[in-house]
This record gives sequence, C-alpha cells and structure tokens, in this order.
Amino acid sequence: MMIHTEALTRSFTVGKETIEAVRGVDLDVAEGELVAFLGPNGAGKSTTLRMLTSLLPPTSGRARVAGLDVAENPAEVRRRIGYIGQKDGAGHSYRVWDELLMQGRFYGMSKADATASGESLLETLDLGSMKMRKVSSLSGGQKRRLDIALGLVHTPRLLFLDEPSTGMDPQNRANLWEHISRIRAERGTTIVLTTHYLDEADTMAERVVIIDHGRIIADDTADALKAKQAGDRLTVVVRPEQVGAARTALAAEGGDLDGGEPAERPGPDGIALSIRVEAASHAMPGVLDRLRIAGIDVVAASARQPTLDDVFLNLTGRSLREGEA
Ligand SMILES: Nc1ncnc2c1ncn2[C@@H]1O[C@H](COP(=O)(O)OP(=O)(O)OP(=O)(O)O)[C@@H](O)[C@H]1O
Ligand SMILES: [Mg+2]
Repeated sequence: MMIHTEALTRSFTVGKETIEAVRGVDLDVAEGELVAFLGPNGAGKSTTLRMLTSLLPPTSGRARVAGLDVAENPAEVRRRIGYIGQKDGAGHSYRVWDELLMQGRFYGMSKADATASGESLLETLDLGSMKMRKVSSLSGGQKRRLDIALGLVHTPRLLFLDEPSTGMDPQNRANLWEHISRIRAERGTTIVLTTHYLDEADTMAERVVIIDHGRIIADDTADALKAKQAGDRLTVVVRPEQVGAARTALAAEGGDLDGGEPAERPGPDGIALSIRVEAASHAMPGVLDRLRIAGIDVVAASARQPTLDDVFLNLTGRSLREGEA
C-alpha cells in the first residue's frame, strides 16, 4: 500500500466554533493507482491531502504514506512524495529552469540528476520553449504545468495534486491529462488528485473517492458507481401547479423510481421531475402518453445515462453543482 489511513480526522477551531473538516477517513491506495477525490467545496479534500503530505497534523487517527507514519516521520514522508497545492507554488521572480533546479537540489539531488530530471519533465510537459522565461510571464495553464514539473523533479513514487486542472481551458485540461498519463506510463507514479470536473473524474481516474462533509461516502471505479445507479434518467419538466398530478402519473409508471419518489428540481421553465427507468428511449413514449392522458402539459423532456452527479445526488440528496458541503 502507498497510502493507508485509519479514522483520519481533523477539526479546526475558529473562535467558539469547531469545524469538523475531516471525520474518520479510512483509505487504502495501492502502488500505481490513480485516484480522484471528488466532492463539493468544503468537503475536506484539501485537508485530507494536507494531512497525507504531513503539512497538517491530524486531530486523531493515523496515516501511513509511502511506507512511513506521517506523524512519526514527516520529513522523510515529504522527501518521498510530491505535492502540488491548490494554489500555485512557484516563486514568480525566477526563471522556469532555475525553479526546477532549485527544487531538485532542495530534495538533495545532485546537479546532474536534477538537470536530467528537469530536462525530461520540461519535454514531457511541453515547457521546453519556456525554459528561460520568468515564471511571472507564464499563463495560468503553463504555470500549472510548471507546478506539476516541480512536484515531480525529485522523481517521487507518489504524487498529490490538489485541483491540477482548475482554471484551465478544455484544450489545456486535455493536454494535462495526456501529460499525467505519460508520466504514469514512464514512471509508474501513484497519483492522488482532487477535481471538481465530473467528466474528468469519470473518464480519467481509475478510482473515484467521493467525499462529503469530511467523510468518504463512495469509493469505486466511475463505471461501478454509475452501474449501482442502475438504468437511465428520464426527466420531464412540468408547470409548478401540475407537479402533484405529474408525480401521481409518474409514480404509476412502476416500481423503478428513486426510493419510490421522483426527484424534483426547480428550473427556469418549470419543475423538473426525474425518474429512473431501464431504457429511457423505450420508456419515453409511454411516460409522455400517460402524462398527456392525465391532462399534464409537458414543457420539456429528456433522457440520459447516469452521471457521477446522479451518484452524488442519490447518496446525499444534493447535486454536486449545488456547491458547498
Ligand atoms: N486552516 C483552517 N482553519 C479553519 N477552517 C479550515 C481551515 N482549513 C480548512 N478549513 C475548513 O475545513 C473544511 C474543509 O476544507 P477543505 O479545504 O479541506 O475543503 P475542500 O474539499 O478542499 O474544498 P474546495 O473544493 O473548496 O477546495 C471547510 O469547512 C473549511 O472552511
Ligand atoms: Mg480544496
């Protein structure tokens, strides 16, 4: 195991208030895994990463990272891992190349080793032409790629990335993932990252850990998480005054509703009612007929396969897009 935690917990005291940021996280990550933490703002993702990287002592519980207990050997844990925080870490007055060399030297590498590693990272991360530029002159996406190079220059076997792709345009996000995949293929690096992008967690991570209110509420592959949501989502939008009648009509569609009740969400055109059906494209005509017979005006209708947001909605009753934990 690269990471093993037992009931990892962290609270903060602000004035008279106690904030329970992380509440008993049990996590195992094996060597070579790529794990994405997904969860709303304030869920405890960064706090968990900061404990795993020894930057923040846990209030209680334990964590072994890269073979060592973080509380007992914080300095050695830091030497064995790479960590890119949520904000960019590079000093802005230096050149890209100097930053890389300094970082390598800081970790005790020889100049030759730091140079070799730095050169190869500049190439992998498409930063070759930026080598002699000042960090302050790079764009946001270029800086983020430099951050990742800085986290990797001492060739750690375990890398933590806190929101590596936030603020990047779609093209740069795609490039970043290409770089991450290449680094994994070349070095077999274990990577734990956080993201707010559902599509990213869905398609790129092999394992998704969903965190809410400081707890892990789901931990599996994206496909398995979605498969447990069985079936498709069928959504109809109706006028607010017809919601009651629409609910009754939809409930008569059978026993495949979420917890027996259609999920309800207000939208700009009316109230959206969603039900779970086996195959939405086949169920749709019957559902629309039934609503029409019941005298309900359907403003809009749609069908889709479940997403990680449905997984989160099903587990918490809230959408990930609704924000704060
Ligand atoms: N140093 C601190 N002092 C007080 N409260 C803190 C501190 N750091 C974090 N918290 C609180 O702990 C909770 C978890 O914060 P954390 O940064 O881990 O969330 P997150 O999941 O990373 O959110 P985001 O997606 O916004 O980055 C929040 O309620 C936050 O306000
Ligand atoms: Mg965070």
